[in-house]
Amino acid sequence: MKNFTVHNPVILHFGREIIKELGTAAKSLGNKALLITGKGSVKQNGIFDAVVKQLEEADVQWVEYSGIKPNPLIDDVRKAVTLGKSETVDMVIGVGGGSVVDSAKVIAAGILSECDAWALVKRETSIEAALPVLAVLTLAATGTELNQFAVVQNPESSEKIGIGHPSLFPRHSFLDPTYTFSVNREHTAYGIVDLMAHAMENYFGLGDAPLADRYVLSILQEAHEIALPLLNEPNNYDLRARKMWVAANALNGYPGYGRLSGDFAVHALGHPISMLFDTPHAATLSIVYPAWLTWLAPRVPEKISRMGREVFGVEGVMESISALKDFYRSLGVPISLAEAGIEGNQRKDLLALWKKLQAQGYAYPLAESDYEAILDLI
Ligand code: NZQ
Ligand code: ZN
Repeated sequence: MKNFTVHNPVILHFGREIIKELGTAAKSLGNKALLITGKGSVKQNGIFDAVVKQLEEADVQWVEYSGIKPNPLIDDVRKAVTLGKSETVDMVIGVGGGSVVDSAKVIAAGILSECDAWALVKRETSIEAALPVLAVLTLAATGTELNQFAVVQNPESSEKIGIGHPSLFPRHSFLDPTYTFSVNREHTAYGIVDLMAHAMENYFGLGDAPLADRYVLSILQEAHEIALPLLNEPNNYDLRARKMWVAANALNGYPGYGRLSGDFAVHALGHPISMLFDTPHAATLSIVYPAWLTWLAPRVPEKISRMGREVFGVEGVMESISALKDFYRSLGVPISLAEAGIEGNQRKDLLALWKKLQAQGYAYPLAESDYEAILDLI
């Protein structure tokens, strides 16, 4: 087992009406907050009002930057950094899904830096510190609530990049499963796909880590078990709660401890699809995963078979990959570029971008010919 250090300082508040713990938490961090929100869902479902009520009762002032889009843009981050600096805020509170919380993290680092926020994401300038981040999560998928990562995109350079830094862990994350009742069927299914991908990206890495493998397989079993019942019963509290908790577990470090590395090639291949076609993050994963596993199959047949056996109850390597595809189909998510409306010359653009960015995972290097082979499969 490889050496590792466990460091996860997030104070995670979980359950019905848990927002009532936000006011005290925010007050302990300062007197003025920058609220970051998306395109309006939190105004419609009342979550924004609940956050504001907490802040006002705790005598914490606030300003808002709204309009963060799915697949968030560095330009919004820059504008919010300018607002946060001019308002001299003490903390940044993301109220939304992964796009909003990720943006809040980079904004929190940008406010304490003299450099352009994209230079921080590109690691041209290292992050020294960040304002405290609080996350009020409204969509269970990415795991950002319990990790130090943030992903933003820059259309000028055609890049969607993830950054990780210890200062980007939320100080507090608030997870009320009822806040996800209003997430539509499509994004509920995407959340299942994304969290399972995080588990698999760790599992198909390098090095022996038996407990981490079992942890991953449990995450996959849990997600597989709840997915269809939840799509049929979107207001079932226990199913929403199980999804929210399993998503938080899938990218919190534990699926990887003891390994040499995870892989994350599927995320690396997926981000350029989002960049070029604004495809939702998880749709890029349901498109690429079966193809990448088919490419990987000769290298780790037993590992793929074990996943198939323990998660989907099938025997055999290709049967396991087919079972994953069938599961995606049952969720109604795309499993090919064509199903996501990407065809013809757009496929060539994608191939060119993969090659230009040298999209790679950590465990199994991809050569140029591999990009073509994977593209042929999707
Ligand atoms: O913009 P609003 O109006 O808020 O609507 C959003 C958006 O349209 C909506 N939504 C969120 N909560 C809702 C809701 N609608 C109704 N009721 C609610 N309670 O859902 C849509 C998608 O939101 P988004 O935040 O984009 O989704 P998600 O949470 O899947 O986040 C995706 C982003 O996270 C990144 C992805 O690349 C992508 O940019 N990731 C972040 C990671 C991390 N920080 O660790 C890891 C992941 O692998 C991923 O890369
Ligand atoms: Zn993901």
